[in-house]
Amino acid sequence: MGFSPDFLDEIRARHSLAEVIGRKVRLTKRGREYVAVCPFHNEKTPSFTVSEEKGFFHCFGCGAHGDVIGFVMRFDNLSFPEAVERLAADAGLPIPVTSPEERARAKEQVSIYTVTEAASSWFEKQLRAAAGKEALGYLHDRGIDDETIARFRLGYAPDARQALKEGLKAGDYSESLMITAGLLVVPEDGRASYDRFRGRVIFPITDRRGRPIAFGGRLLGEGQPKYLNSPETPLFHKGRVLYGLANALKSARETGALAVAEGYMDVIALNRAGFAAVGPLGTALTEFQIRELWRVVAEPVLCFDGDAAGMRAQARAAERALPLLQPGQSLKFVNLPKGEDPDSLIVKRGPKAFAEMLDGAKPLAEVLWRMETAGKPVDTPERRASIDRRLDDRASQIADRTVQNYYRRYFRSRLWEAFSDYQPALRRRRGARRGLRSGAGIGGADRLGQGAEGQAGHRETVLVATVLNHPGLIGEIAEDFAAMAIEDPELDSLRQAILEVSAVDPGLDVEALRLHLTQRGFSHTVDRLAGPGADVLDWFSNLDWFSNPDAAPEDALLGWRHLLARHQRLYALMAELKAAEEALGRSMTEEGWARFEALKRMIDEGEGDEAEIEGYGVASGRPQGL
Ligand code: UTP
Ligand code: MN
Repeated sequence: MGFSPDFLDEIRARHSLAEVIGRKVRLTKRGREYVAVCPFHNEKTPSFTVSEEKGFFHCFGCGAHGDVIGFVMRFDNLSFPEAVERLAADAGLPIPVTSPEERARAKEQVSIYTVTEAASSWFEKQLRAAAGKEALGYLHDRGIDDETIARFRLGYAPDARQALKEGLKAGDYSESLMITAGLLVVPEDGRASYDRFRGRVIFPITDRRGRPIAFGGRLLGEGQPKYLNSPETPLFHKGRVLYGLANALKSARETGALAVAEGYMDVIALNRAGFAAVGPLGTALTEFQIRELWRVVAEPVLCFDGDAAGMRAQARAAERALPLLQPGQSLKFVNLPKGEDPDSLIVKRGPKAFAEMLDGAKPLAEVLWRMETAGKPVDTPERRASIDRRLDDRASQIADRTVQNYYRRYFRSRLWEAFSDYQPALRRRRGARRGLRSGAGIGGADRLGQGAEGQAGHRETVLVATVLNHPGLIGEIAEDFAAMAIEDPELDSLRQAILEVSAVDPGLDVEALRLHLTQRGFSHTVDRLAGPGADVLDWFSNLDWFSNPDAAPEDALLGWRHLLARHQRLYALMAELKAAEEALGRSMTEEGWARFEALKRMIDEGEGDEAEIEGYGVASGRPQGL
């Protein structure tokens, strides 16, 4: 006997349960599990199930149950060590010889658990004794009720040098064990050891099973250090523990929600307010802790103070998580108002307000985007390239290829959005070239209107040309394509033909589509849009490259969607402008004039302010840019 838990885990990991059982029993796949006629009792209909995922088998008929080791023991009638040795041999694993030191260490760990447990009870008792009166009052004042105190096993360390030491000695715990457990401090000058925690509220830190392994202690008033933690011990490794995990596990698993806060009091306040919560112990989240969070829920929500330090901590967590991301597995972020932590926020605004903050948590991708772009100018190609590069570098850090790919797509799409906000400059230049300066009063508005219509004409041309060059997109965009405004009758009927042809034969490639359209008499229009001398790309060359047949389909799709959104928006604005102009014609008012001017300006600039546009109710669904 005496296999280490790690070694046993290794054995379980090396063997597929279904494979081991499948060698002896005929398994049938049913959903995520396998079923079979039970090898351990007599039956006709199968009630024996095997879950590869959970790593165990179970018979609903006879109650036989176990993991891969248990199966081999039962089936081959072996003892536990024999079964382990057999499976180890099958997997080519040498049986580790446990050294006397290792055995001693395992024994020591067991006794540390007992002393930390004893200390925890002792601290709890002190909180309820006369010495703990002030501490208990302190906790109550901070809104922690007795039930929560009991659940987190909060306690009190009296302000004396030998109180715990004497208390535990009476329970037969040796001084050296207390020192190893971090409960006593040994002065360097050779004087007697003394209690580490004195005059502090005690927060037991437990492992995921709820066994105390270390402690945090808070001063009742002001002073330094505010919190004191146990040192590293054979049981306690700061970077591997999440405070409050044992208490959070059940509800986090049930609800799929888990908040991560910085401090002890935050975790407790959150828990009391009904949120499953854990906290690292006053340091940045480690890789281990991030993985540990993912063992509980897919998307833990990290709460950070909105101040500079909080933002730095957030950035660190985001960076650390990147290489570890897996499909379906990420982090979310909440930025609290400056100077607040979850505890103070719940006290001030209540659980409901906090629930809303959690609901509004930002995904990791969004946070990274903001980190790289917030406040950065994108008004020159070099600056854009620099942002592009940085985002690309971020994406490269993601080890999982699938997730990495989606990050690249996400960043590309956001860049598209952001950079399109700077197109007014280009467009104005084009407008000037064509003598379409605005601001010339009503007469000017006429010309402006024509100019805008001219641009609308080119937008619709590019939109149709993109579809023509990427018929593979039609399935995805058919509805928008059918519904979009097209003024030019020639283009309109070409669109109609494209939709008809592709409805009959959805899988058409570029050549086949063109052939069909030519047969329907559209060869002239098709050539104008996508033939060798097509003038579309010339006009929009730097902006609308995505319409080109060489563009990657996802770029074509993205570009198309964005251009369509702009097209619809401007189209709606032009209708508004027309109405405003007619209204002005009926009666000249200050308001009417201002409205007319504003619309004109927005159209001239091609974009206009996002918020203003929303005021016009254009359903473009366009997310915000930088
Ligand atoms: P904070 O200073 O934000 O304290 O430290 P807090 O959690 O809001 O505590 P209260 O509300 O004042 O009681 C956050 C966490 O950093 C660690 C602790 O884990 C604390 O909960 N810390 C802080 C220390 O370990 N030592 C310290 O001296 C201070
Ligand atoms: Mn606090």
